[in-house]
Amino acid sequence: MPYNTFTHALVRVPTVNMGDGMTTQQLGVPDFDLVLTQHAAYCEALRWCGLKVATLSGDEAYPDACFVEDTAVIYHDLVVITQPGARSRRGETTAIQQAFKHRPLVQLHGDEYLEGGDVLFCADRVLIGLSERTNRQGATRLKNALQDYDAALQVDFVPVGGVLHLKTGITELAPGVIIQSPDFVTDYTFDFADVYVIPAAEKNGGHVLPINDAVLIHAGNPRVRDLAHRYYLRVLEIPMSEFEKMDGGVTCLSLRYAFSGA
Ligand code: GLY
Repeated sequence: MPYNTFTHALVRVPTVNMGDGMTTQQLGVPDFDLVLTQHAAYCEALRWCGLKVATLSGDEAYPDACFVEDTAVIYHDLVVITQPGARSRRGETTAIQQAFKHRPLVQLHGDEYLEGGDVLFCADRVLIGLSERTNRQGATRLKNALQDYDAALQVDFVPVGGVLHLKTGITELAPGVIIQSPDFVTDYTFDFADVYVIPAAEKNGGHVLPINDAVLIHAGNPRVRDLAHRYYLRVLEIPMSEFEKMDGGVTCLSLRYAFSGA
């Protein structure tokens, strides 16, 4: 099954205090009415891609919890519950564990820290970013879990500089086609891909999310949109301005999966 084939998604409703969450941006406080409108549009886009969307309620104790992708990594039937590097986000995983309680779970613990924003499934490999939120112990635990599940899987570590998460820096638009933020710094060589560095004006909206036969992109980014149209007939542009204020985007607002027999 191709790496971007999914049947289901899990999202978590943003809370009114989302602006109290963590951010490296200086783009102002999110407008909560607009947050809810944009989140609804995002969920609708996932449905247009053919996914059944399950929604968890928010919890004001965790203003970053709508960025649900950081709490788990799912590969086919393997569910790995992470341990976010950000201390304020660690409690978010309890609700995710509960949501997947009927499945066997791998759980990071101890000094193993990892956030899903640092994990990029590409067509021919998995990249795990070593960032301020993901350490080598967490990355190694995930690599071992992935390769225990699928021994043929290539898993590479990518040092992340200049951006928050690996997927803030790069996403894969199509097999062998990487979109890169101009701020991203690494010594990993992307020799398996053509790399397009997007203009600085589009750096907050450069994340792309391929799902089935479509790709989700942030609205208002003409260079990214032009590239996306080269590879997809269905390019879904979602307004994401309020999530960009909190370092968020189309990748981190959902967990996507396709469990066998589901
Ligand atoms: N606001 C998302 C994060 O910093 O984790």
